Amino acid sequence: MLNSCSEELLNSIDISLPAPEREPQRQYYFIKKLKEMVALKAENAGRSLTYHVETFGCQMNAKDSEKLAGILQSIGYVENESEKADFVIYNTCTVRENANTKVYGRIGYLGSLKSKNPDMMIAMCGCMSQEKHVIEKIKKNYRFVDIVFGTHNIYMLAELIYLKLTEPSDKPLISVFDSASEIVEELPSELKYGFKAGVNIMYGCNNFCSYCIVPYVRGRERSRRPEDIVKEVETLAENGVIEVMLLGQNVNSYGKGLDKEVTFAELLREVSKVEGIKRIRFMTPHPKDLSDSLIEEIAVNPKLCKHVHLPLQSGSTEILKKMNRHYSKDDYLRLVEKIKRKIPGAAITTDIIVGFPGETEEDFEETVDVVKKSGFTSAYTFQYSPRRGTPAAEMPGQISEEVLKSRFERLLEAVHQVTAEITALETGSVKAVLVEEFNTDKQTLTGRLDNNLLVHFEGGENLLGKIVNVKLDECKGFYYIGSLA
Ligand code: SAH
Ligand code: SF4
Ligand code: F3S
Repeated sequence: MLNSCSEELLNSIDISLPAPEREPQRQYYFIKKLKEMVALKAENAGRSLTYHVETFGCQMNAKDSEKLAGILQSIGYVENESEKADFVIYNTCTVRENANTKVYGRIGYLGSLKSKNPDMMIAMCGCMSQEKHVIEKIKKNYRFVDIVFGTHNIYMLAELIYLKLTEPSDKPLISVFDSASEIVEELPSELKYGFKAGVNIMYGCNNFCSYCIVPYVRGRERSRRPEDIVKEVETLAENGVIEVMLLGQNVNSYGKGLDKEVTFAELLREVSKVEGIKRIRFMTPHPKDLSDSLIEEIAVNPKLCKHVHLPLQSGSTEILKKMNRHYSKDDYLRLVEKIKRKIPGAAITTDIIVGFPGETEEDFEETVDVVKKSGFTSAYTFQYSPRRGTPAAEMPGQISEEVLKSRFERLLEAVHQVTAEITALETGSVKAVLVEEFNTDKQTLTGRLDNNLLVHFEGGENLLGKIVNVKLDECKGFYYIGSLA
């Protein structure tokens, strides 16, 4: 049996074996042990023990948080909405400096909670934990943090809690691996929503865009086996999930290095055979290798959302070169045209960075030009943030705060204008939406369109998690007000 492990079995497991061969059985041993310890603590306290996992960052982190929550629940902790819980985990992001600053401030706040509740446990994990200077700072200034672990050993949470409880010390227990072991499957996971779920198809990134910290903190690209992915999607569908989002930093290179190489388009075909799954999304394709076969698959496969998130980053060919993106302004525009031609009605969204080192006024204007020509449905815009250890942080021509802010404002204006025009075109049409939230006013629902935009409309809680037709009555720029059709 996978989900149990005796002391005898544990002792027979050779811990020098690679992780996939020794896990998850070892972890189930620690889960079992902790379950007894947590039950005893709860009995003494006269109440259940609670946990809170706070996610900073992208969908990958959100997915990891579901895995952490799954482990904590199987140990016997009950979820708490606030950080006033017995066990709090901060799952951190370090993609931009402001993500870091936010985390430090909030850890300080956790310290004040712990001084009132000394039995509280605090753990920190995620992308910040992979950085040496962060670990030094935690050791020096935040000694009250109990456990620090990284992006490569999320699966070890139960073992680390067990170690901390059985060998107490006033220093943080730090367990961060420099590189990833192979992928550990079959651990518990707790879904945030009952009807939609993210599914990792690969981990890490090999692209090394010169501004980006992700390859350093998430390691090299590793793909999950297609049969493991399909099995997970089947289990999700059996449990009521109708929409899956396949997650990877560069989904086009899915399948490389597997025993039998599989393309991303082939994987999509396999996943779409799973009965019960009605919608499939994916994040993120890289413009440099978005293949014709993938565009074709999106066009013909009815389960695939007609939405492509295609990060532009910059519209200047010169800056794109310095960013190590491997496409030019013209390549990008041609790709947008191709997608629109082959997938009628497709929504294209993007990510843009302003103020990359050496960006001139002309470079910036090229970006605005691409925004105007591409017709994005929405765009995430970011101010360039130098990341320690990345090549761009050392490049000459770092842009002043003042110029950065001014370009950012101008870019936002251009983006708002374009997205408002594009989204307004759909006003009056009837679209299928997945109902995601029953709003706090207890009268309206929020649903997501195929193109990822939101619509608010009146309806009852009974529609939650269902796909319904909604008329888009009014366009509010980046969302709609609608009515059930
Ligand atoms: N793998 C995805 C997403 C990576 S992170 C991709 O390639 O698109 C999400 C976004 O954060 C990136 O697309 C980029 O626009 C932004 N980003 C990454 N590093 C940044 C930095 N140093 N400063 C500002 N924005 C950054
Ligand atoms: Fe970062 Fe580039 Fe990899 Fe995306 S593709 S995660 S931007 S290095
Ligand atoms: Fe942030 Fe890590 Fe995602 S740095 S954007 S949480 S991969």
